[in-house]
Amino acid sequence: MYRTNTCGELRLADAGKKVTLAGWAQKVRKMGGMTFIDLRDRYGITQIVFEDDTNAALCDQANKVGREFVLQITGTVKERQSKNPHLPTGDVEIIAEKLNVLSPSLVPPFTIEDETDGGDDLRMKYRYLDLRRPCVRKNLELRHKMTMEVRRYLDSKDFLEIETPMLVGSTPEGARDFVVPSRMNPGQFYALPQSPQTLKQLLMVSGMDRYFQIVKCFRDEDLRADRQPEFTQIDCEMSFVEQDDVIELFEGMAKHLFKELRGIELTEPFLRLPWSEAMRRFGSDKPDMRFGMEFVELMDILKGHGFSVFDNAAYIGGICAPGAATYTRKQLDQLTDFVKRPQVGAKGMVYARVEADGNVKSSVDKFYDQPTLQKMKEAFNAQPGDLILILSGDDAMKTRKQLCELRLEMGTRLGLRDKNKFACLWVVDFPMFEWSDEEQRLMAMHHPFTHPKDEDIPLLDSNPEAVRADAYDMVVNGVEVGGGSIRIHDSQLQAKMFEILGFTPEKAQEQFGFLMNAFKFGAPPHGGLAYGLDRWVSLFAGLDSIRDCMAFPKNNSGRDVMLDAPAPLDPKQLDELNLVVDIKE
Ligand code: AMO
Repeated sequence: MYRTNTCGELRLADAGKKVTLAGWAQKVRKMGGMTFIDLRDRYGITQIVFEDDTNAALCDQANKVGREFVLQITGTVKERQSKNPHLPTGDVEIIAEKLNVLSPSLVPPFTIEDETDGGDDLRMKYRYLDLRRPCVRKNLELRHKMTMEVRRYLDSKDFLEIETPMLVGSTPEGARDFVVPSRMNPGQFYALPQSPQTLKQLLMVSGMDRYFQIVKCFRDEDLRADRQPEFTQIDCEMSFVEQDDVIELFEGMAKHLFKELRGIELTEPFLRLPWSEAMRRFGSDKPDMRFGMEFVELMDILKGHGFSVFDNAAYIGGICAPGAATYTRKQLDQLTDFVKRPQVGAKGMVYARVEADGNVKSSVDKFYDQPTLQKMKEAFNAQPGDLILILSGDDAMKTRKQLCELRLEMGTRLGLRDKNKFACLWVVDFPMFEWSDEEQRLMAMHHPFTHPKDEDIPLLDSNPEAVRADAYDMVVNGVEVGGGSIRIHDSQLQAKMFEILGFTPEKAQEQFGFLMNAFKFGAPPHGGLAYGLDRWVSLFAGLDSIRDCMAFPKNNSGRDVMLDAPAPLDPKQLDELNLVVDIKE
């Protein structure tokens, strides 16, 4: 037997017991006639003591142990003289009687403790060592608990967990595909699924009724803190449902997860915010509603006073930052620089302070008299001490998005985005289509299988951009944690959709014939949703990036620095695959 107990298990009640522990040497210290080893495993840390005067040979052996050696130690549990209240095992120590080095270790490239001296790249290169750090391991434990709870909840609601293939066909909508060459079919490629969307719909045609899968999805897109090229969805689909049924069931799941994983009981129904309202009030389809600072539109008040920037704008709007009138010139310049960054893209920012006497002092005072500024103050219901920040632009949607960035930045600066506070909502009534400048055509905002709202179907021909979809996203703290829709189950309506999206009937048949044909054999009305597992875990764990809750994530250039992937292929392998590499400059 390698061990009788784990390193996190022993307490004062165990004093006197003879035990064998196994684990890694986190720290080795020599003090007077004694050597102490902090022995660590997944469950905790236990202090081991080697006494020179009682067993000099053993103590000598302990002094040769280096950091991260794997040890097996037998000894007797004893009450500690100086207890460590920070450790659950801190009341006891083991007086060692036998030490067995199971495996030596090179000096680790960084300290394997929560507070580490290892930078990002180094930790990723030695991710297996990084994962020994309790703060990293904790995130994987939470992830495990989360998938267990998801399975428990969905099983209790009659969902079947069904696996779908990883080698599928490429689909032109959405992000770019990762592709896999086929050796047996020269010149042909599989694609890795961006999501099992069409397959889960086929499972509904098969009569599976309620499906789920905790599934890897692959998307070749630009990476951000909340995006990885491979990530995990909790993918679900249900038959014979309307939007409300799906929303209720998955809101129930979210509440279940909050309760089981964070001990938070959410009793109120989540807010359902129409997309157009979310854009108008927050400039975002995933508003962070932990704080207010809603947009106020100022076109009526500020236009026509000779300030050409505003006079020529298609949108003028602002936010009111409570208590920020004390912002110095330097802080305001920093904010102006922030909105001018290419990622935000505003040309400039106008500010106005509400002074203690109620007067408003703005950066464009020469164009606006006090009565006009007072009107603006009232529009915000601003109080003395508040700071009003205004952006304008010739594209209303773009300007709103810039103002959204400014709102989030101010929320962060004012400490209003507390990670232990959660604001959950559904964004509903998404537009069916959005115009793509790049493609010069309408694209499906969600995906081409999304059902338009029944009452908007007549607009499909006359004004497709006004058509709203039975689509919904769940948003928590400004993060889109999931999204889904009611699907089209009628092959004719689906064909119409492809037509609006610019597919010829032949192209639609080639790409999606399998689905449209299946719909001709009795397709039930159906709908579903996919939650982003990584995003949920990182929200619950208070992480800044989803990378930290993945065992082996990719870096920002999509590389696995530990495996050194991607990498060129061996010429023999290329040959077998009938591939010739020709890198364009
Ligand atoms: P969607 O594309 O909205 O919908 O994806 C669902 C959820 O998956 C998460 N997600 C990601 N997480 C990490 N990295 C990424 N690159 C990434 N992309 C998406 C998000 C998102 O809300 N088939 C549809 C779902 C459906 O309609 O049922 C789909 O894939 O949390």
